[in-house]
Amino acid sequence: MDSNKRPDTMERIVTPELAEAFIAEQVKEVRAQVGNKKVLLALSGGVDSSVVAALLIKAIGKQLVCVHVNHGLMRKGESEQVIEVFRNQLDANLIYIDATDRFLDKLAGVAEPEKKRKIIGGEFVRVFEEEARKLEGISFLAQGTIYPDILESDGVKAHHNVGGLPDDIHFEGLVEPVKLLYKDEVRVVGKALGLPAEMVDRQPFPGPGLGVRCLGAITRDRLHALREADAILREEFDNVGLNKTVWQYFIAVPDFKSVGVRDNKRYEGWPAIIRAVNTTDAMSATIEEIPYSVLHKITDRITAEVEGINRVLYDLTPKPIGTIEWE
Ligand code: XMP
Repeated sequence: MDSNKRPDTMERIVTPELAEAFIAEQVKEVRAQVGNKKVLLALSGGVDSSVVAALLIKAIGKQLVCVHVNHGLMRKGESEQVIEVFRNQLDANLIYIDATDRFLDKLAGVAEPEKKRKIIGGEFVRVFEEEARKLEGISFLAQGTIYPDILESDGVKAHHNVGGLPDDIHFEGLVEPVKLLYKDEVRVVGKALGLPAEMVDRQPFPGPGLGVRCLGAITRDRLHALREADAILREEFDNVGLNKTVWQYFIAVPDFKSVGVRDNKRYEGWPAIIRAVNTTDAMSATIEEIPYSVLHKITDRITAEVEGINRVLYDLTPKPIGTIEWE
């Protein structure tokens, strides 16, 4: 039987009970597969790798070594949440690497989007490999592959994967416990494993992170402004429940300034561009109608609270003709 093919008879995991049964079965399978050997996992904090981490912690505890690489392009509070949930709450064996300087130094002056993606993806693999080499006696590599990844591995979306994982380190095998599940099923399993809702219901976030939203050549001050503005947008969406109805929403900050006034003085700043889209497959997307009151509040807060931003714009472009990300 092709282990990468979802059997026609496999029931969709839509209830906590079905999730529990799936977890129990996977725990047994993982234990049988790895015995008392060690497993390595790149834990980004995204839904898939987080669910795999929680599942493997349940199955093999400290035999799992998680490596979280902070590339400096995470959203506000994300790396902190990974440490809090996995190290403090789930007592995982977690190695945290703050590689911010390394990534930002490599990206300095690079404005071309695909070049930025290549640098981020390539550097990610290098940092992860270096860490993996330092560790002794790791036999397996775990991955958060899900069923759509297998269905889409025809290369069409290859540029969407962050660089892949080390291919010059030899592992005895791969551990991919959720590879036959669809995204909604992964979320149900994550909840049954006790992961926090904000982690499990997280909106999609591109591998290169804020790197493709800090448009053009990334600078630390503009990246900081973007991260703060994005946090305000998310907070205000949470406050009015838009986080439950909008598929993806974020801020992009371009690399030009406009003239404004602050405290009766000329104040040049970047615009913050709001993007909020709905889609089923990310191939096409429509624009969500955001109430004016919410847009006003977000505008007031961002321009008052974020150093360097003096305007807020709302992007009304559907996909096509615009892509969801600006780069
Ligand atoms: P676009 O911009 O192509 O985005 O309309 C479609 C979906 O893919 C995400 N995206 C990425 N995800 N690496 C990723 O892992 C990337 O380089 C990347 N670029 C876009 C985007 O956020 C949206 O959900």
